[in-house]
Amino acid sequence: MNILVTGGTGYIGSHTVVELLTAGHKVTVVDNLCNSSADSLAKVSEICHCSSIPFAECDIRDRAALGRVMDSDRFDAVIHFAGLKAVGESVEKPWEYYDNNIGGTLVLLDVMRQHGVKNIIFSSSATVYGDPQEIPITETCPKGQCTNPYGWTKSMLEQVLTDLQMADSEWNVVLLRYFNPIGAHPSGLIGENPNGIPNNLMPYITQTAVGIRKELGIFGNDYPTPDGTGVRDYIHVVDLARGHVAALKAIAGKCGIETFNLGTGTGYSVLDVVRAFEKANGVKVPYSIKPRRAGDIAACYSDPSKAFRVLGWKAEYGIEDMCRHSWNFQKNLLK
Ligand code: NAD
Ligand code: UD1
Repeated sequence: MNILVTGGTGYIGSHTVVELLTAGHKVTVVDNLCNSSADSLAKVSEICHCSSIPFAECDIRDRAALGRVMDSDRFDAVIHFAGLKAVGESVEKPWEYYDNNIGGTLVLLDVMRQHGVKNIIFSSSATVYGDPQEIPITETCPKGQCTNPYGWTKSMLEQVLTDLQMADSEWNVVLLRYFNPIGAHPSGLIGENPNGIPNNLMPYITQTAVGIRKELGIFGNDYPTPDGTGVRDYIHVVDLARGHVAALKAIAGKCGIETFNLGTGTGYSVLDVVRAFEKANGVKVPYSIKPRRAGDIAACYSDPSKAFRVLGWKAEYGIEDMCRHSWNFQKNLLK
């Protein structure tokens, strides 16, 4: 298929471009580079041994520029990653998050329908479940209260896409709810390199292990979990990327609208991840226990069986692979 990937120079997007090319799809990337660099596409070309990947530096809110990209080729589907994703920043800058994530997606959908492209895979998040009513979380678990504007943009955009598809059955929509993506490509060439102090666990661990941060603060050890620290469903970014390739099947099969959890189905605590990282890489991660972080929940992990049943997809990498590949990428950044 011929796929337009928005946000394709970013962390999950670049890994997905690798998997799309590997599976034989044709890819064009659109990104405004607000949180990434076009270098990632050069690395993708290196990994895939292919010539340069068609790229338009363009903001998806720029209707005219996006229209020119969509005029340039006949696309079968859009995989839509472009968006802002920093939870704390979204609390400080809600307007910017609603403008970029919701405004950008509304422009994208309008330009898509003008071009007769009505197949979309959307990056959603387990955050839409709020404090989940059931664990493991199935797709039928009711959506909950988000604790920040970022989460609301995901929840609201799921509603926008649902309503759009209900009004026009020519749309094929796949909502992918990611659990906690970590890891990096096994080549060590692409991975996650957040600006400033990391908010998420794995980049904080790798930066601590490499000596950029003094110690990891563990946010609470008094949760009702086996060791008191928060439990999450960490998924290797390459497995997540392959989930998008599998989801194209649902579009080819004219699904209407479908929602899938992309997770491993296994929950690990913060201390489990620290120990797995130390074991996989033979390095120490100094840590101390800090107060709970506002908005955090005790435990969140998926039931990913629907994605296996319908798409034939399941995660393959284990927690130590995730830790090894994250570390490998972090060390390469220093070279
Ligand atoms: P990322 O920041 O690495 O990638 C997002 C990309 O979108 C960046 O390259 C950025 O430059 C681009 N972008 C942002 N706004 C844009 C705009 N208006 N026009 C064009 N490009 C724009 O983030 P990621 O981790 O790769 O996340 C990809 C998607 O997955 C996001 O929508 C994110 O909300 C969602 N998601 C991420 C996680 C996670 O933990 N990483 C979890 C759940 C959902
Ligand atoms: C966070 C976001 C969520 C987003 C997801 C993926 C919040 C409240 N939620 O989820 O919306 O979809 O990232 O991007 O930010 N931890 C520490 N010390 C740290 C960092 C994290 O102990 O320095 C703990 C957390 O308390 C949590 C676990 O590690 O128990 C995972 O945290 P994180 O990587 O930030 O992901 P989430 O909070 O699950």
